[in-house]
Amino acid sequence: MSTTSSPAGQVTGQGTAQAIASAEAHSAHNYHPLPVVVSSADGAWMTDVEGRRYLDMLAGYSALNFGHRNQRLIDAAKAQLERVTLTSRAFHHDRFAQFCAQLAELCGMEMVLPMNTGAEAVETAVKTARKWGYEVKGVPDGEARIVVASGNFHGRTTTVVSFSTDPEARAGFGPYTPGFDVVPYGDAAALEAAVTDRTVAVLLEPIQGEAGVLVPPPGYLAAVRELTRARNVLFVADEIQSGLGRTGRTFACEHEGVVPDMYVLGKALGGGVVPVSAVVSSAEVLGVYRPGEHGSTFGGNPLACAVGLEVIAMLRTGEYQERAACLGDHLHEQLGLLVGGGVTQVRGRGLWAGVDIAPRHGTGRQVSERLMDRGVLVKDTHGSTIRLAPPLVISREDLDWGLAQLRGVLAES
Ligand SMILES: Cc1ncc(COP(=O)(O)O)c(C=O)c1O
Repeated sequence: MSTTSSPAGQVTGQGTAQAIASAEAHSAHNYHPLPVVVSSADGAWMTDVEGRRYLDMLAGYSALNFGHRNQRLIDAAKAQLERVTLTSRAFHHDRFAQFCAQLAELCGMEMVLPMNTGAEAVETAVKTARKWGYEVKGVPDGEARIVVASGNFHGRTTTVVSFSTDPEARAGFGPYTPGFDVVPYGDAAALEAAVTDRTVAVLLEPIQGEAGVLVPPPGYLAAVRELTRARNVLFVADEIQSGLGRTGRTFACEHEGVVPDMYVLGKALGGGVVPVSAVVSSAEVLGVYRPGEHGSTFGGNPLACAVGLEVIAMLRTGEYQERAACLGDHLHEQLGLLVGGGVTQVRGRGLWAGVDIAPRHGTGRQVSERLMDRGVLVKDTHGSTIRLAPPLVISREDLDWGLAQLRGVLAES
């Protein structure tokens, strides 16, 4: 985690241009990446095909909480690569039970259903809540409803985009899956009004990431917990982006002393090495499944479990949560100084911030491009916001250097 960095130059070289042209010719244009072509990475730093170094202030949307190629995770993956990588769930393997038991323990819950990507885990949560609703709560078959929040981002599958309120994510992909009720995020009264005897779950991000790192008003998560408990409704917390250390706690729900009925986890659970996701809940809830009713060829594979086990061991030390809390305080203090200047608002918790850029400095995308020119990689969202989510292993010096580049961009535009 070196602190001496040479900022990237302004000129996009031939290697970069060729790689981008080739990607544009041969891949679907479902993303609009910054014009940088990464060829290696270490800790909080990435290097492009022309040898320029960049500070990663996005960390794969929290998938790289432990930094690029974290040695403990790489060692765990390598050791597993030498033993067995995939069995399918047709057979048991010797890392599976350990992974499930330790993840359940980390969450203070009883059972785990492992999947691969975040969207699959959300799909699994939806299916589980519906099945629990029919078999345990007694909702008439086919009538289960799930309450979700406006501005949500839970993934890209057809069911998940069915309850998105973002036209970009949703339009053109109908017909949509029914059974969802959308209420304004952060409004406990609206949520309460939407709950009926057919409601099986409330599905929420404890902090909305893609929406621009929106932190709900104090007391909201606790109110949701109280209400769902009183109405026999599952509180499903999508901690795919907010969980596993990012906010300074293992789970963002902890900031309000709340334990949901189900955690949906992904991203950092795979240590930035392999896709690993999971639904974690009680035996009553996950106990609804019988063989053949749900599954995934790759879910809970030996390589995923080996890396996931190391992630759990690292989180158990508390070291990463502590770093996120301390460095997060510093990050928010520094960003707060920009409010009223080049920045109109800053939101977030721990090493996670949504920074609204004053319109006179251009769009979030333009600010991201200028930051890239100075050797810092971030991601814009919703026009005028940039998201900062550096790896939790970032040094304070590197964080300060990244912040200095942001101040530099705002000063010169
Ligand atoms: C809160 C949340 N849920 C679900 C997802 C979907 O995860 P994946 O991209 O792995 O399918 C994301 C991805 O950004 C997310 O932030």
